[in-house]
Amino acid sequence: MFSKRVNSIKPFIVMEVLEKALEMESNGIDVVHMEIGEPDFDTPPRIVNGCLSDITSGKTHYTHSLGNLELRKALSDYKMRHRNIRFDPHTQFMVTGGTSPAFFNLLSTLINRGDEVIITDPGYPCYENFITFFNGKPVFMPIYEENEFDLDIGELKRVITPKTKALILNSPSNPTGQIIPDMTLNEIADIAKKKKSLDHLR
Ligand SMILES: Cc1ncc(COP(=O)(O)O)c(C=O)c1O
Repeated sequence: MFSKRVNSIKPFIVMEVLEKALEMESNGIDVVHMEIGEPDFDTPPRIVNGCLSDITSGKTHYTHSLGNLELRKALSDYKMRHRNIRFDPHTQFMVTGGTSPAFFNLLSTLINRGDEVIITDPGYPCYENFITFFNGKPVFMPIYEENEFDLDIGELKRVITPKTKALILNSPSNPTGQIIPDMTLNEIADIAKKKKSLDHLR
């Protein structure tokens, strides 16, 4: 008998379609995959060789719980070079096996029962599942093609309540492909700062 928590989430349809497609392929049927979002090239040799060399040289043991420090330092340097933002490799990185475990960890540390998390509609379906899984409430904010799938800041202000814990965005977006304009990001940052100062007063 599965837990209520597990029963509360919906199947991720992309995986169901992929599994059906794999089954068809194993029966000799030619399938054009349009379900899963993946690069259309294999892992580059530099990465493959790096992994192989680490495995054969015995780097197969536990690391710090936040991930290998050398890697966190390299990630911090990367962010500095590409974004001009200094993140502390000791406290501001956590290495995970993909974004799904990262979101799982993040939302498990943020959400209390009944907390609201704003997500876009359309949006990446797993976000809704993560929020529900941790007893949060997904709040859907519609975005429209006529507006190039950009967030309507007025609408965002309307859906924020004292229970709002987070807003999840991805850019480039799945499924719309939209890249969030800097202006929108700046407006969101202003709203978040104001909300933070209000939350401190409560
Ligand atoms: C927006 C978004 N988040 C997360 C994922 C899953 O990422 P991962 O395989 O790193 O868990 C996908 C995969 O398509 C995605 O589009």
